[in-house]
Amino acid sequence: MQLDDKTVLVTGAASGIGAATAKQCSEYGARVLVTDVDTPGAEEVAETIRDDGGDAEAHELDVTDPEQVATVIEAAHEEYGLDGLFNNAGVGHPGQSIEDVDESVRDFVMNVNINGVWNCCHAALPLLKEQGHGSVVNMSSVAGKLGLPGQSVYSLTKGAVLNFTRAAAQEAGPHGVRVNAVCPGFVDTPLTDSYFEGRDDPDRAREAMVEQYPLKRLGDPDEVADCVAFLLSDHASYVTGHGLVIDGGYESG
Ligand code: NAI
Repeated sequence: MQLDDKTVLVTGAASGIGAATAKQCSEYGARVLVTDVDTPGAEEVAETIRDDGGDAEAHELDVTDPEQVATVIEAAHEEYGLDGLFNNAGVGHPGQSIEDVDESVRDFVMNVNINGVWNCCHAALPLLKEQGHGSVVNMSSVAGKLGLPGQSVYSLTKGAVLNFTRAAAQEAGPHGVRVNAVCPGFVDTPLTDSYFEGRDDPDRAREAMVEQYPLKRLGDPDEVADCVAFLLSDHASYVTGHGLVIDGGYESG
């Protein structure tokens, strides 16, 4: 996988899948802009990449803040020329029936997961279209394809990301810019830990979940990172508007 001479910006890169993707993109040769609302966490990931011989910068970036998003993305583009953008930042919510979900939870999750992706695409796509190349990957989920009970708001947001990706791909394609999404199943990250911790018996809930996966395990963040790196790279030069399912066979099971 080659990302040599490319600059890639990853949101929500202080933890989990975002951190793994930032590291993986660096290993494949990219300069990586490690961004997160958790600035010390982003600094730590960037430092690890630099210690391993890579080229990484950390930036504070709250994807729900359109002005900050525009400032960081425009500065990155001006300094390096942005080639890749991974809109990964996202949040979950406690497992609850629709009627029990508080409006504040709904609005918070929708703001990060939907408006966050929108804000980053709104800022980046004109720049990528103008330069005539670029690859954007948006973070959806199997929840966005199947809809998960107890995860109504999360499913709503991830379905929105998937359909937005298709629309964005059609707008950007004529300008040489690709837009894809990834749809992971359950991946071992702090987000997944908090999902299981909210269950009556977290260990049992995890075992029951693993049982539903044909590969009989949850995903590793590096396994999602490799798929994202592929979509960001020129190896995927004829892939756009696609939602790549990375779920150990869950959807087909
Ligand atoms: P995580 O909790 O380990 O990492 C999420 C990162 O996003 C954190 O560093 C957090 O600080 C950052 N973040 C949260 N709000 C932000 C904001 N407003 N602006 C910028 N950064 C913000 O979670 P994980 O599991 O790595 O999730 C990453 C993405 O993958 C999320 O969009 C999640 O919905 C999605 N996903 C995760 C799956 C899983 O099983 N872990 C499965 C499918 C999708």
